[in-house]
Amino acid sequence: MSRQTTIPLRERNIILIGFMGAGKTTIGQLVAKKLYRDFIDVDAEIERRHGMSIPEMFAQKGEAYFRQVERELIVDLCTNTRLKILSLGGGAYLQEDVRRACLAHGIVFFLDLSWEHWKEERLPLIVDSRPVLKNKTLEEVEQLFFQRQSAYALHHSRVVLNELEAEQAAEQIVESIKWTWDVYEPNR
Ligand code: S3P
Repeated sequence: MSRQTTIPLRERNIILIGFMGAGKTTIGQLVAKKLYRDFIDVDAEIERRHGMSIPEMFAQKGEAYFRQVERELIVDLCTNTRLKILSLGGGAYLQEDVRRACLAHGIVFFLDLSWEHWKEERLPLIVDSRPVLKNKTLEEVEQLFFQRQSAYALHHSRVVLNELEAEQAAEQIVESIKWTWDVYEPNR
């Protein structure tokens, strides 16, 4: 684990990244409960602050505006908060400023799901609610899925979700984080 800031590991935000619909929000809420921390879903926070849904923001203001809002919020949360569990929208981590802030100040977990699992189990649940999926063929969505993997590869730790229930994934994250704390900061 690289030490790019002086924030103690035990106080750093835990940040969940991964493709849309992977389960970042559900798993993030479970992790927050287990560690007695606050959970912030970045998309929900944007919706709350701007008084509109993400699809409305895409439709009324455009994707570029959403990406700017998303970037500014995440960089702010990474820089100015501690002890949170953050779940990022699936496209946020494509922005270099977001990656840099997350990796420097937080502990980044990539929630990894195979294309086959995602296509069978997740796509049907989210296809109507994600503007990025609108008007795309399955081939185009598959392309997007694989294009994004190189950004997601820049993480501190990875959990493969394919055969896991959300509860099991959250437990793995908590075990991994406690192990990291004990190894790198044994006396805190
Ligand atoms: C997006 C993913 C969404 C949301 C927005 C754009 C993306 O979040 O931020 O619709 O570009 O992948 P989830 O990952 O929670 O679906």
